[in-house]
Amino acid sequence: MRLKSSMVLPILALVLLTVTECQASRIQDLPSDTGIRENVDNLPKNEPTIKRLLDGATEEIDKIREGNQINERPMIGIFTQPYNETNDYIMASYVKFVESAGARAVPIVWRDSDEDILDLVQNLNGALFPGGSTALRNEDGSLTEHSRKIELVLNKVKELNDQGVYFPILSICMGFQEIVQSEAPYKDTVELNKFDSMNVANNLTLKYSIEDSKLFSEMPQHLINALQNENITYNHHHDGVYPSALNKYPALREGYYLLGTSYDLNGVEYVAFIESKEYPIWGIQFHPEMNIFIWKPTLEVPHSQVSIDFSQFMANFFVKQSKKNFNKFDSEEEAFDHMIEHIPVELNPLKKHEVYIFPG
Ligand SMILES: *[C@@H]1O[C@H](CO)[C@@H](O)[C@H](O)[C@H]1NC(C)=O
Ligand SMILES: *[C@@H]1O[C@H](CO)[C@@H](O)[C@H](O)[C@H]1NC(C)=O
Ligand SMILES: *[C@@H]1O[C@H](CO)[C@@H](O)[C@H](O)[C@H]1NC(C)=O
Repeated sequence: MRLKSSMVLPILALVLLTVTECQASRIQDLPSDTGIRENVDNLPKNEPTIKRLLDGATEEIDKIREGNQINERPMIGIFTQPYNETNDYIMASYVKFVESAGARAVPIVWRDSDEDILDLVQNLNGALFPGGSTALRNEDGSLTEHSRKIELVLNKVKELNDQGVYFPILSICMGFQEIVQSEAPYKDTVELNKFDSMNVANNLTLKYSIEDSKLFSEMPQHLINALQNENITYNHHHDGVYPSALNKYPALREGYYLLGTSYDLNGVEYVAFIESKEYPIWGIQFHPEMNIFIWKPTLEVPHSQVSIDFSQFMANFFVKQSKKNFNKFDSEEEAFDHMIEHIPVELNPLKKHEVYIFPG
C-alpha cells in the first residue's frame, strides 16, 4: 500500500504538467479524481495523448483507493474438530474470539469434500485453525484426514495470496502444529508427547526483532512487556515443536520467522509463536482466546487485565487482517446461511465450556 501511495504524487504531477500546457483552465479541482474524470470526458476528441494519460492516472487512483478500503463485514472460517466418530465440534471460545472483534464465524466442516471446502474458502475473508485433541498423523506417519484438510486450505490460501488476494490465517495450538507438519516432512517437526506444558501459564522469550514482525510492530509496548515478564500465555499441550526443527527444512526456515519461544515445566524450550515471512499467516502454540472466555475452575488460565488486553489485541489484529480481503458470497442471504448461528451450541458439562456440535 505504501508503495502504491508513493506513486500518487508523481502521477498527479505528470497529469498536472501535461494539462497545464494545453488545458489548464479545465482542471479546477485536482487532486479529486471526480474532477479528473469530468475533465477526461470533456477533453476534445483530438487530444488522445492527454486522455490516455488521465485515464491511466484515474485507474491508478482507483487502485490506491481499493487498497485503502476496508471490508466491514468480514467472515472468518473456523475449522471443526472431531467430537466423536460421527460428530464434529467447534469450541465456542474461538467463535466468540472472532465475533468479539467484529467478524462473523463460518464453520469449515473438515468432513466435507475437498471441493466443497475450497468453494467455501473462496467466499471467506480469513481462516482460523483451532486447537483440538485429535491425532495429528497416522501410525505410519501419514497425515490424518483432518490434517490433510488443513493442508488443503493452507495451500489454497497461499495460492490466493500469490494471486494478490490478501487472506490471513491464525492457527492456534494443534492448528499451529498442523501447519508446521504440513510445511515439512512432518515426522520430525512436531514432536508427540515430548513436552510437559499441560495447564500452565508461561511467558514468552522474544526471538525476533519487534519492528520487523508484522504482528509485534502493531502490538502496544505494555503488552509486549507483559508477554515477556508475566505468565499470561495459557498452554495446554504435550506435543510441540523444538526451535531447532524450524531450521531443519527450507520451507520452515525460509518461510517463517520464529517470533518467540517458551519453556515447559521441565525447562524444555518450545516454539510458541511464528509468523510467515511472505503470507499473512501466524501460528501460536498457546491459547490467546482462552484468557477472555474459559473459566473451568481447575484450569490455570490467566485472567489478569493485561492478559485480557492481550487477547483482545490478538482478536482485533487478526480480524483487521481479514478486513483487507474482499471475497464474498453471491448475496448477503447466502452469507447468512453459512454463519455459525445455525448450529446449536451446548454446554460440555465435563469441560465446562460451550461447544457447537455438528451433526454427523
Ligand atoms: C456423538 O456425539 C453426539 C452429540 O453429543 C451424540 O448425539 C452422538 O450419539 C455421539 N455419537 C457417538 C457414535 O458416540
Ligand atoms: C520467563 O520464563 C523463564 C523460563 O521459564 C523464566 O526463567 C523467567 O523467570 C520468566 N520470567 C518472568 C519474569 O517470569
Ligand atoms: C512464571 O512462571 C515461571 C515458571 O513456572 C516462574 O518461574 C516465574 O516465577 C513466573 N513468573 C511470574 C512473574 O509469576
